Amino acid sequence: MLASAAPAAPSTKNPATGTDRVFNFSAGPGCLPEDVLRQVQQDVWNIAGSGIGILEHSHRGKVVDKIFEECEADIRKLANIPANYRILYLTGGASAQNHMIPMNFMPKGSTGDYIVTGHWSQKTFDQAAKMGPNFGTAHLAATTKDQNHSYIPADDQIKYSASPAFVHYCSNNTLYGTEWFRIPAVPAGVPLICDASSHFYSRPIDISKFAMVYAGAQKNMGPAGVTLCIIRDDLIEKGAKDIPELLQYRTFVPEFSRPNTPPVFAVYVMGLVAKWIARSGGLAAMQKHNEAKAKLVYDVIDGSKFYKGHARPEARSLMNLTFRTPNEKLDDLFVSEAKKAGMDGLKGHRATGGMRASIYNAFPKAGCEALAAFMREFEKKNG
Ligand SMILES: Cc1ncc(COP(=O)(O)O)c(C=O)c1O
Repeated sequence: MLASAAPAAPSTKNPATGTDRVFNFSAGPGCLPEDVLRQVQQDVWNIAGSGIGILEHSHRGKVVDKIFEECEADIRKLANIPANYRILYLTGGASAQNHMIPMNFMPKGSTGDYIVTGHWSQKTFDQAAKMGPNFGTAHLAATTKDQNHSYIPADDQIKYSASPAFVHYCSNNTLYGTEWFRIPAVPAGVPLICDASSHFYSRPIDISKFAMVYAGAQKNMGPAGVTLCIIRDDLIEKGAKDIPELLQYRTFVPEFSRPNTPPVFAVYVMGLVAKWIARSGGLAAMQKHNEAKAKLVYDVIDGSKFYKGHARPEARSLMNLTFRTPNEKLDDLFVSEAKKAGMDGLKGHRATGGMRASIYNAFPKAGCEALAAFMREFEKKNG
Protein backbone atom coordinates (compact mmCIF):
# COMPACT_ATOMS: atom_id res chain seq x y z
CA MET A 1 0.00 0.00 0.00
CA LEU A 2 1.19 3.51 -0.76
CA ALA A 3 2.06 5.65 2.22
CA SER A 4 -0.37 8.48 2.76
CA ALA A 5 0.80 12.07 2.52
CA ALA A 6 2.28 13.64 5.63
CA PRO A 7 -0.28 15.52 7.71
CA ALA A 8 -0.29 19.27 7.17
CA ALA A 9 1.88 21.21 9.60
CA PRO A 10 -0.15 22.97 12.29
CA SER A 11 -0.82 26.49 11.13
CA THR A 12 0.40 29.40 13.20
CA LYS A 13 -1.16 32.83 13.09
CA ASN A 14 1.08 35.36 11.49
CA PRO A 15 1.47 38.66 13.39
CA ALA A 16 1.17 40.85 10.29
CA THR A 17 -1.64 39.17 8.37
CA GLY A 18 -3.61 37.60 11.22
CA THR A 19 -3.84 34.40 9.14
CA ASP A 20 -1.57 31.41 8.59
CA ARG A 21 -0.01 33.14 5.56
CA VAL A 22 2.72 35.78 5.61
CA PHE A 23 3.18 38.90 3.50
CA ASN A 24 5.27 37.38 0.74
CA PHE A 25 7.62 39.92 -0.86
CA SER A 26 9.31 37.28 -3.03
CA ALA A 27 10.68 38.44 -6.40
CA GLY A 28 9.22 35.38 -8.07
CA PRO A 29 7.46 33.12 -8.04
CA GLY A 30 5.38 35.78 -6.38
CA CYS A 31 2.15 35.66 -4.44
CA LEU A 32 -1.10 34.84 -6.23
CA PRO A 33 -4.57 36.31 -5.60
CA GLU A 34 -6.30 34.62 -2.70
CA ASP A 35 -9.49 33.76 -4.57
CA VAL A 36 -7.44 32.26 -7.40
CA LEU A 37 -5.71 29.98 -4.91
CA ARG A 38 -9.04 28.91 -3.43
CA GLN A 39 -10.41 28.12 -6.90
CA VAL A 40 -7.26 26.11 -7.66
CA GLN A 41 -7.73 24.11 -4.46
CA GLN A 42 -11.17 23.04 -5.68
CA ASP A 43 -10.19 22.41 -9.29
CA VAL A 44 -7.22 20.22 -8.40
CA TRP A 45 -9.79 17.76 -7.11
CA ASN A 46 -12.53 18.09 -9.74
CA ILE A 47 -12.71 20.81 -12.36
CA ALA A 48 -15.96 21.99 -13.94
CA GLY A 49 -17.87 18.95 -12.68
CA SER A 50 -15.79 16.69 -14.94
CA GLY A 51 -14.86 14.32 -12.09
CA ILE A 52 -11.19 14.84 -13.00
CA GLY A 53 -8.75 17.32 -11.44
CA ILE A 54 -6.99 19.92 -13.55
CA LEU A 55 -3.64 18.16 -13.13
CA GLU A 56 -5.06 14.97 -14.63
CA HIS A 57 -6.85 16.21 -17.73
CA SER A 58 -5.71 15.40 -21.25
CA HIS A 59 -4.20 18.42 -22.93
CA ARG A 60 -6.28 17.61 -26.01
CA GLY A 61 -9.62 17.24 -24.23
CA LYS A 62 -12.58 19.62 -24.17
CA VAL A 63 -11.88 20.93 -20.65
CA VAL A 64 -8.39 22.04 -21.58
CA ASP A 65 -9.59 23.38 -24.96
CA LYS A 66 -11.93 25.68 -23.08
CA ILE A 67 -9.27 26.75 -20.57
CA PHE A 68 -6.80 27.65 -23.34
CA GLU A 69 -9.44 29.49 -25.39
CA GLU A 70 -10.73 31.47 -22.44
CA CYS A 71 -7.24 32.36 -21.23
CA GLU A 72 -6.36 33.68 -24.67
CA ALA A 73 -9.63 35.63 -24.95
CA ASP A 74 -9.19 37.19 -21.51
CA ILE A 75 -5.55 38.12 -22.11
CA ARG A 76 -6.52 39.67 -25.45
CA LYS A 77 -9.35 41.65 -23.97
CA LEU A 78 -7.39 43.02 -21.01
CA ALA A 79 -4.77 44.68 -23.22
CA ASN A 80 -6.79 45.10 -26.44
CA ILE A 81 -4.38 42.89 -28.35
CA PRO A 82 -4.80 43.55 -32.09
CA ALA A 83 -5.95 40.68 -34.32
CA ASN A 84 -2.58 40.37 -36.08
CA TYR A 85 -0.86 39.19 -32.90
CA ARG A 86 -0.73 35.61 -31.64
CA ILE A 87 -0.80 34.58 -28.00
CA LEU A 88 1.62 31.72 -27.42
CA TYR A 89 2.19 29.65 -24.30
CA LEU A 90 5.86 28.67 -24.35
CA THR A 91 8.10 26.74 -21.97
CA GLY A 92 11.71 27.02 -20.83
CA GLY A 93 11.05 30.21 -18.86
CA ALA A 94 11.78 33.70 -20.09
CA SER A 95 15.40 32.49 -20.29
CA ALA A 96 14.68 30.18 -23.22
CA GLN A 97 13.84 33.32 -25.19
CA ASN A 98 17.49 34.33 -24.88
CA HIS A 99 18.13 31.62 -27.48
CA MET A 100 14.86 31.45 -29.40
CA ILE A 101 14.98 35.13 -30.34
CA PRO A 102 18.44 35.15 -31.95
CA MET A 103 17.91 31.70 -33.47
CA ASN A 104 14.77 32.92 -35.20
CA PHE A 105 15.49 36.55 -35.95
CA MET A 106 19.26 37.03 -36.06
CA PRO A 107 20.39 35.10 -39.14
CA LYS A 108 24.00 35.01 -40.25
CA GLY A 109 25.08 38.42 -41.52
CA SER A 110 22.48 40.35 -39.52
CA THR A 111 22.77 42.30 -36.26
CA GLY A 112 20.45 42.17 -33.24
CA ASP A 113 20.53 45.23 -30.98
CA TYR A 114 20.34 44.86 -27.22
CA ILE A 115 19.73 47.48 -24.54
CA VAL A 116 21.13 46.31 -21.23
CA THR A 117 19.61 47.79 -18.07
CA GLY A 118 20.10 45.00 -15.55
CA HIS A 119 20.92 41.40 -14.77
CA TRP A 120 18.40 39.74 -17.08
CA SER A 121 18.97 41.91 -20.13
CA GLN A 122 22.72 41.44 -19.63
CA LYS A 123 22.18 37.70 -19.68
CA THR A 124 20.00 37.99 -22.77
CA PHE A 125 22.73 39.95 -24.54
CA ASP A 126 25.50 37.60 -23.39
CA GLN A 127 23.64 34.56 -24.68
CA ALA A 128 22.96 36.18 -28.05
CA ALA A 129 26.62 37.17 -28.30
CA LYS A 130 27.56 33.49 -27.92
CA MET A 131 25.34 32.20 -30.74
CA GLY A 132 28.28 31.31 -32.94
CA PRO A 133 29.12 31.46 -36.64
CA ASN A 134 25.77 30.25 -37.96
CA PHE A 135 24.02 33.32 -36.58
CA GLY A 136 24.37 37.08 -36.67
CA THR A 137 26.06 39.51 -34.32
CA ALA A 138 24.68 40.88 -31.07
CA HIS A 139 25.25 44.62 -30.73
CA LEU A 140 25.24 46.33 -27.34
CA ALA A 141 23.19 49.45 -28.06
CA ALA A 142 23.32 50.79 -24.49
CA THR A 143 24.20 49.71 -20.99
CA THR A 144 23.52 51.26 -17.60
CA LYS A 145 26.24 49.21 -15.94
CA ASP A 146 28.32 52.37 -15.29
CA GLN A 147 25.98 53.24 -12.40
CA ASN A 148 25.12 49.75 -11.26
CA HIS A 149 21.90 49.78 -13.31
CA SER A 150 20.25 52.45 -11.19
CA TYR A 151 18.76 54.35 -14.14
CA ILE A 152 17.03 53.97 -17.50
CA PRO A 153 18.91 55.40 -20.49
CA ALA A 154 17.54 58.35 -22.46
CA ASP A 155 16.90 57.74 -26.16
CA ASP A 156 20.02 59.71 -27.14
CA GLN A 157 22.17 57.38 -25.00
CA ILE A 158 21.14 54.40 -27.13
CA LYS A 159 23.38 53.78 -30.15
CA TYR A 160 21.76 51.40 -32.59
CA SER A 161 23.68 49.55 -35.28
CA ALA A 162 23.28 50.56 -38.92
CA SER A 163 20.41 48.21 -39.70
CA PRO A 164 19.24 46.14 -36.73
CA ALA A 165 17.17 43.01 -37.34
CA PHE A 166 15.42 43.81 -34.04
CA VAL A 167 15.88 45.71 -30.79
CA HIS A 168 15.56 43.87 -27.48
CA TYR A 169 15.12 45.41 -24.05
CA CYS A 170 13.78 44.45 -20.62
CA SER A 171 11.07 46.81 -19.38
CA ASN A 172 11.31 46.09 -15.65
CA ASN A 173 14.59 45.20 -14.00
CA THR A 174 13.70 42.78 -11.25
CA LEU A 175 17.02 42.84 -9.40
CA TYR A 176 17.85 46.52 -9.52
CA GLY A 177 14.30 47.84 -9.16
CA THR A 178 14.15 50.09 -12.22
CA GLU A 179 11.33 50.30 -14.73
CA TRP A 180 10.87 51.86 -18.15
CA PHE A 181 7.98 54.32 -18.12
CA ARG A 182 8.35 54.98 -21.83
CA ILE A 183 8.93 52.73 -24.80
CA PRO A 184 12.40 53.26 -26.30
CA ALA A 185 12.38 54.97 -29.69
CA VAL A 186 13.70 52.54 -32.30
CA PRO A 187 14.57 53.14 -35.96
CA ALA A 188 11.46 53.09 -38.19
CA GLY A 189 10.26 49.61 -39.08
CA VAL A 190 12.64 47.77 -36.72
CA PRO A 191 10.84 45.12 -34.64
CA LEU A 192 10.93 45.90 -30.93
CA ILE A 193 11.09 42.87 -28.63
CA CYS A 194 10.52 43.23 -24.90
CA ASP A 195 11.09 41.03 -21.87
CA ALA A 196 8.30 42.25 -19.57
CA SER A 197 8.55 39.32 -17.15
CA SER A 198 8.41 41.21 -13.89
CA HIS A 199 5.69 43.75 -14.66
CA PHE A 200 3.54 42.35 -17.46
CA TYR A 201 -0.12 43.32 -17.05
CA SER A 202 0.69 45.50 -14.04
CA ARG A 203 -0.53 48.51 -16.04
CA PRO A 204 -1.94 49.21 -19.52
CA ILE A 205 0.35 48.36 -22.42
CA ASP A 206 0.08 49.38 -26.09
CA ILE A 207 1.06 46.13 -27.77
CA SER A 208 0.94 47.72 -31.23
CA LYS A 209 4.27 49.43 -30.42
CA PHE A 210 5.97 46.03 -30.14
CA ALA A 211 6.65 43.15 -32.47
CA MET A 212 6.88 40.78 -29.52
CA VAL A 213 6.47 40.95 -25.75
CA TYR A 214 7.12 37.98 -23.50
CA ALA A 215 7.01 37.24 -19.81
CA GLY A 216 7.65 34.31 -17.52
CA ALA A 217 4.26 34.07 -15.79
CA GLN A 218 5.55 33.49 -12.28
CA LYS A 219 5.59 37.11 -11.14
CA ASN A 220 2.45 38.89 -12.23
CA MET A 221 0.56 36.38 -14.33
CA GLY A 222 0.51 33.02 -12.62
CA PRO A 223 2.80 30.18 -11.57
CA ALA A 224 6.13 29.12 -13.05
CA GLY A 225 6.04 26.87 -16.08
CA VAL A 226 4.59 29.01 -18.84
CA THR A 227 6.06 31.95 -20.73
CA LEU A 228 3.39 34.16 -22.19
CA CYS A 229 4.46 35.42 -25.61
CA ILE A 230 2.49 37.97 -27.63
CA ILE A 231 3.95 38.16 -31.10
CA ARG A 232 3.00 39.83 -34.38
CA ASP A 233 2.23 37.63 -37.37
CA ASP A 234 4.84 39.17 -39.67
CA LEU A 235 7.62 38.55 -37.12
CA ILE A 236 6.58 34.91 -36.77
CA GLU A 237 6.78 34.61 -40.54
CA LYS A 238 10.28 36.12 -40.61
CA GLY A 239 11.56 33.44 -38.23
CA ALA A 240 14.18 30.94 -39.38
CA LYS A 241 12.91 27.67 -40.85
CA ASP A 242 16.18 25.76 -40.60
CA ILE A 243 16.18 25.43 -36.81
CA PRO A 244 14.49 22.70 -34.72
CA GLU A 245 10.70 22.91 -34.99
CA LEU A 246 10.09 23.36 -31.30
CA LEU A 247 12.27 26.47 -31.37
CA GLN A 248 10.27 28.12 -34.16
CA TYR A 249 7.43 30.38 -33.04
CA ARG A 250 5.23 29.32 -35.97
CA THR A 251 5.09 25.78 -34.57
CA PHE A 252 3.03 27.06 -31.62
CA VAL A 253 0.41 28.91 -33.66
CA PRO A 254 -1.95 26.03 -34.53
CA GLU A 255 -3.97 24.31 -31.80
CA PHE A 256 -3.30 26.84 -29.05
CA SER A 257 0.38 26.14 -28.42
CA ARG A 258 0.08 22.39 -28.26
CA PRO A 259 2.66 20.90 -30.60
CA ASN A 260 3.60 18.76 -27.59
CA THR A 261 2.24 18.47 -24.04
CA PRO A 262 2.00 22.06 -22.80
CA PRO A 263 2.14 23.35 -19.20
CA VAL A 264 -1.63 22.96 -18.76
CA PHE A 265 -1.72 23.76 -15.06
CA ALA A 266 0.29 26.98 -15.46
CA VAL A 267 -1.92 28.17 -18.33
CA TYR A 268 -5.02 27.31 -16.30
CA VAL A 269 -3.82 29.41 -13.33
CA MET A 270 -2.78 32.22 -15.68
CA GLY A 271 -6.33 32.16 -17.04
CA LEU A 272 -7.73 32.50 -13.53
CA VAL A 273 -5.36 35.39 -12.85
CA ALA A 274 -6.50 37.12 -16.06
CA LYS A 275 -10.11 36.80 -14.89
CA TRP A 276 -9.10 38.16 -11.48
CA ILE A 277 -7.45 41.19 -13.13
CA ALA A 278 -10.62 41.80 -15.16
CA ARG A 279 -12.82 41.49 -12.04
CA SER A 280 -10.51 43.90 -10.23
CA GLY A 281 -11.12 46.58 -12.86
CA GLY A 282 -8.57 45.70 -15.57
CA LEU A 283 -5.11 47.06 -16.23
CA ALA A 284 -5.89 50.71 -15.44
CA ALA A 285 -7.13 49.67 -12.00
CA MET A 286 -4.02 47.49 -11.54
CA GLN A 287 -1.87 50.51 -12.26
CA LYS A 288 -3.64 52.63 -9.64
CA HIS A 289 -3.44 49.82 -7.11
CA ASN A 290 0.26 49.28 -7.81
CA GLU A 291 1.10 52.99 -7.70
CA ALA A 292 -0.67 53.39 -4.37
CA LYS A 293 1.18 50.39 -2.91
CA ALA A 294 4.62 51.51 -4.11
CA LYS A 295 4.02 55.07 -2.87
CA LEU A 296 3.54 53.84 0.69
CA VAL A 297 7.07 52.46 0.74
CA TYR A 298 8.79 55.09 -1.43
CA ASP A 299 7.33 57.82 0.80
CA VAL A 300 9.16 56.32 3.77
CA ILE A 301 12.42 56.21 1.80
CA ASP A 302 11.98 59.78 0.56
CA GLY A 303 11.21 61.10 4.03
CA SER A 304 14.21 59.43 5.66
CA LYS A 305 17.97 59.90 5.82
CA PHE A 306 18.30 56.33 7.14
CA TYR A 307 17.01 54.50 4.05
CA LYS A 308 18.52 54.93 0.63
CA GLY A 309 16.85 53.72 -2.56
CA HIS A 310 18.97 51.98 -5.21
CA ALA A 311 17.11 53.29 -8.26
CA ARG A 312 16.97 56.93 -9.29
CA PRO A 313 13.55 58.32 -8.33
CA GLU A 314 12.35 58.77 -11.93
CA ALA A 315 13.23 55.15 -12.77
CA ARG A 316 11.85 53.47 -9.65
CA SER A 317 9.93 50.29 -10.33
CA LEU A 318 6.36 49.90 -9.10
CA MET A 319 7.01 46.16 -8.74
CA ASN A 320 10.46 45.69 -7.21
CA LEU A 321 11.41 48.27 -4.60
CA THR A 322 15.11 48.27 -3.74
CA PHE A 323 16.58 50.09 -0.75
CA ARG A 324 19.11 49.76 2.01
CA THR A 325 19.89 50.98 5.52
CA PRO A 326 23.20 52.71 6.41
CA ASN A 327 25.11 49.41 6.66
CA GLU A 328 24.98 45.69 5.87
CA LYS A 329 24.63 44.67 9.50
CA LEU A 330 21.48 46.73 9.80
CA ASP A 331 20.23 45.35 6.45
CA ASP A 332 20.55 41.82 7.85
CA LEU A 333 18.82 42.83 11.05
CA PHE A 334 16.04 44.49 9.03
CA VAL A 335 15.42 41.30 7.05
CA SER A 336 15.41 39.03 10.08
CA GLU A 337 13.23 41.33 12.21
CA ALA A 338 10.81 41.80 9.32
CA LYS A 339 10.54 38.04 8.98
CA LYS A 340 9.67 37.74 12.66
CA ALA A 341 7.00 40.39 12.10
CA GLY A 342 5.41 38.30 9.30
CA MET A 343 7.10 39.77 6.22
CA ASP A 344 9.10 37.31 4.15
CA GLY A 345 11.35 37.56 1.10
CA LEU A 346 12.78 41.03 1.71
CA LYS A 347 16.48 40.24 1.30
CA GLY A 348 17.88 42.06 -1.72
CA HIS A 349 19.75 40.30 -4.50
CA ARG A 350 23.51 40.15 -3.96
CA ALA A 351 23.98 42.50 -6.95
CA THR A 352 22.36 45.39 -5.11
CA GLY A 353 22.56 44.26 -1.50
CA GLY A 354 20.10 45.73 1.00
CA MET A 355 16.43 44.93 0.64
CA ARG A 356 14.00 44.30 -2.17
CA ALA A 357 10.26 44.38 -1.71
CA SER A 358 8.51 42.77 -4.67
CA ILE A 359 4.90 43.83 -4.74
CA TYR A 360 3.36 42.32 -7.86
CA ASN A 361 -0.32 42.72 -8.78
CA ALA A 362 -1.61 40.19 -6.27
CA PHE A 363 0.41 41.59 -3.39
CA PRO A 364 -2.07 43.28 -1.01
CA LYS A 365 -1.95 46.96 -0.09
CA ALA A 366 -2.12 45.92 3.58
CA GLY A 367 1.32 44.33 3.11
CA CYS A 368 2.80 47.63 1.95
CA GLU A 369 1.16 49.43 4.86
CA ALA A 370 2.69 46.87 7.21
CA LEU A 371 6.11 47.27 5.60
CA ALA A 372 5.96 51.09 5.73
CA ALA A 373 5.02 50.99 9.43
CA PHE A 374 7.78 48.47 10.12
CA MET A 375 10.33 50.66 8.30
CA ARG A 376 9.41 53.70 10.38
CA GLU A 377 9.63 51.71 13.59
CA PHE A 378 12.96 50.14 12.58
CA GLU A 379 14.42 53.55 11.81
CA LYS A 380 13.29 54.90 15.18
CA LYS A 381 15.00 52.02 16.99
CA ASN A 382 18.17 51.88 14.90
CA GLY A 383 18.56 55.28 13.26
C1 LIG B 1 12.99 40.36 -16.11
C2 LIG B 1 13.30 38.89 -16.07
N1 LIG B 1 13.64 38.27 -17.21
C3 LIG B 1 13.93 36.97 -17.22
C4 LIG B 1 13.90 36.21 -16.07
C5 LIG B 1 14.22 34.76 -16.14
O1 LIG B 1 13.02 34.08 -16.06
P1 LIG B 1 12.91 32.48 -16.04
O2 LIG B 1 13.39 32.06 -14.71
O3 LIG B 1 11.44 32.27 -16.26
O4 LIG B 1 13.71 31.94 -17.14
C6 LIG B 1 13.54 36.81 -14.86
C7 LIG B 1 13.50 36.04 -13.62
O5 LIG B 1 13.43 36.53 -12.52
C8 LIG B 1 13.25 38.19 -14.87
O6 LIG B 1 12.93 38.82 -13.74
